[in-house]
Amino acid sequence: MKANAESILEVRDLVKHFPLTQGIVVKRQIGAIKAVDGVSFDLHRGETLGVVGESGCGKSTLAKLLMALERPTSGSVRIHGRDITTARGSELKRMRRNIQMVMQDPYTSLNPRMTVGDIVGEPFEIHTDVVPKGGRRRRVQELLEVVGLNPDHINRYPHQFSGGQRQRIGIARGLALQPEIIICDEPVSALDVSIQAQVMNLLERLQNEFDLAYIFIAHDLSVVRHISDRIAVMYLGKIVELGSDAQIYDGPTHPYTQALLSAVPVPDPEGRETRQRIILQGDPPSPANPPSGCHFRTRCWKAQDICAEQTPALEARPGSDHPSACHFAEARDVVNAQ
Ligand SMILES: Nc1ncnc2c1ncn2[C@@H]1O[C@H](COP(=O)(O)OP(=O)(O)OP(=O)(O)O)[C@@H](O)[C@H]1O
Ligand code: SF4
Ligand SMILES: [Mg+2]
Repeated sequence: MKANAESILEVRDLVKHFPLTQGIVVKRQIGAIKAVDGVSFDLHRGETLGVVGESGCGKSTLAKLLMALERPTSGSVRIHGRDITTARGSELKRMRRNIQMVMQDPYTSLNPRMTVGDIVGEPFEIHTDVVPKGGRRRRVQELLEVVGLNPDHINRYPHQFSGGQRQRIGIARGLALQPEIIICDEPVSALDVSIQAQVMNLLERLQNEFDLAYIFIAHDLSVVRHISDRIAVMYLGKIVELGSDAQIYDGPTHPYTQALLSAVPVPDPEGRETRQRIILQGDPPSPANPPSGCHFRTRCWKAQDICAEQTPALEARPGSDHPSACHFAEARDVVNAQ
């Protein structure tokens, strides 16, 4: 990321509650699944924000809200100052060009009956003014080349490619409209470990080449480590800690981040001996019925009475620029903890 890069995406107090209904003929709302529950952050030009958390914490719902594929319950998502959640018609279409997504599973996310040329070129059918009709095939071939695929394979079908190649097809499609922002929703988790690094390297190369900003979603802090400039850690619909690469990995302040980091394998044997492992007890509670106060308190070894009574805000301590939603936030070097 370039120093002092401008903010291109501003997310404020974003909330998505899915109604929880009962009854088959007459549906009654009996509650809400709080999938995203008050999320705020900025994304700067050319930077990568890693978003990490356990299954069900709201990562994909957040991604869909940012792309206006879901309507929020409340809150705003401003791209260059315009709120995509309230945009309609041609304005929404224009804004969507600027924010694209690469999906998790390259096996199911590509239509098996469409050729690669049709898949990568489909955005040009929707946004007809981007490339004139006669130039689209050539443009698709250029995109295939950019992501390291053979442009002569334009008439092949997805099943004729490996998993890593299919993910490259998904990335080429994401690049077609020359967006400034790409959301990568666990783009390598379905791939073999040996292929993951190749796809990550490709994403990094494309970021530099096209000055892209990424929101990179993953379960695990080790996946986003090398690609992220900043990391947001999510728990039950909320960001609980937000910091730079160094802040999150060298001095995490939220107990949940510390526990996640403690689970990351340590490559050097010395670190493995000296580090203390934090074992998280149980599964996250249901987002339909989160604990009062701090959502993490039912699994937190530091919890006190105040944690049940007051929801900790995602705030930095005075003199710090490292927000953490914990009443007792304190930095801890998890890897070298004694
Ligand atoms: N359309 C929907 N209707 C009702 N509930 C939903 C819907 N989409 C998601 N949810 C619920 O919202 C919560 C967050 O789901 P989401 O898919 O955003 O999680 P995630 O962090 O992406 O999980 P994973 O890591 O498994 O992909 C879950 O409890 C999920 O069951
Ligand atoms: S606010 Fe309390 S329960 Fe929540 S993470 Fe901090 S110490 Fe644990
Ligand atoms: Mg998901």
